[in-house]
Amino acid sequence: MVDAAIACADVWKLYGAGGRSWLAGRADPSPEDARAAGFTPAVCGVSLTAARGEMLVVMGLSGSGKSTLLRCMARLTEVEAGVVRVAGRDIGALSPSQLVAMRRETMGMVFQSFALLPHRTALENVAFPLEMRGMGRRARTARARDLLALVGLEGREDFYPREMSGGQQQRVGIARSLAIEPEIWFLDEPFSALDPLIRREMQDEFLRLKAMRGRTIVFVTHDFTEALRLADRIAIMKDGRIEQIDAPDRIVLAPATDYVARFTAEIDRAGVVRAAALAEPLDAVDADAPGPAADADATVRQLGRMLVEDGRERIPVVAGGALIGVMSRRRALGILLGDAACPSRSTTRKPAPRAGRLRAGASPARVPASSGPR
Ligand SMILES: Nc1ncnc2c1ncn2[C@@H]1O[C@H](COP(=O)(O)OP(=O)(O)O)[C@@H](O)[C@H]1O
Ligand SMILES: [Mg+2]
Repeated sequence: MVDAAIACADVWKLYGAGGRSWLAGRADPSPEDARAAGFTPAVCGVSLTAARGEMLVVMGLSGSGKSTLLRCMARLTEVEAGVVRVAGRDIGALSPSQLVAMRRETMGMVFQSFALLPHRTALENVAFPLEMRGMGRRARTARARDLLALVGLEGREDFYPREMSGGQQQRVGIARSLAIEPEIWFLDEPFSALDPLIRREMQDEFLRLKAMRGRTIVFVTHDFTEALRLADRIAIMKDGRIEQIDAPDRIVLAPATDYVARFTAEIDRAGVVRAAALAEPLDAVDADAPGPAADADATVRQLGRMLVEDGRERIPVVAGGALIGVMSRRRALGILLGDAACPSRSTTRKPAPRAGRLRAGASPARVPASSGPR
């Protein structure tokens, strides 16, 4: 927990007056009860952590609570119950000025609405957070120019938001969020208005920044391809709850609920599942596994030729030169060929019973890391 950049414990956000006292009076509230009581439940008992340097991607249908969850993490909205810790601090306990300072120093945000300052140019918008930090005009202008160039807006420095397209405004918003190089980034569908090419460039830029500086990023997207490119883990939300939070290949191999299985049905599994996820421990099988090995990080798609041509029943899997297990070639081939009877269907489980309010630490629907697909 020490290393968590963000930790939410049993966080609730209900829209409608009186949510706090309604929740306080209940040991085990449900979204259904909340709705029956006239509230709009947006975030319902969410517990999760994001490790320092992690890219956590939040997915779910429109209205499932993704934006609200992000707003709770940045305390742009007040939660009705639960605790949100960011960089080790309970942000619900911060005074308004402490909160402003923390946002200024630690957090970067890009939201669905671009929220640019309308009476400032692109350059002035990007320089604004630096100005707030007390950086001198010359230095902040130079930095803002660099950032606008980075997002492909060279030559548009003096445009006002109303003179730019949605995609251009979004890029100004991204450049602005990058200006202070925050420790923690909150990004709510930041690339949704971008053309595919620039979108990919922006993804690359975020991957580069993340790798370089170990920044923590919480990223909301609708787009599975984007999620799979970026995510260390994916959290899938439904009706204000997190159905599953897991590595991308665990999500497709071992969906925690029927909903997750349906939600991820369209994913190309061969491009997502890596050998590491298929490796069974050696003691469970033949301890001796000679011959060519598969790299733990390789996807089933990348291993395609080997899977087709190698006649062995079990293929050793190595990570950093060390044998970590063996994978069943038949199972990997099944994923490669998109078998209808792919393992996810048979392992689909109902969600675990919800944890009571007092057990705030545990994420109810989480699949234990050790539970391999069977
Ligand atoms: N300011 C608000 N007032 C009332 N209800 C809201 C407000 N913002 C969001 N909601 C409701 O909360 C739920 C979650 O919304 P949101 O977090 O925006 O979902 P998502 O980002 O996943 O589309 C929805 O039912 C939405 O209508
Ligand atoms: Mg949203």
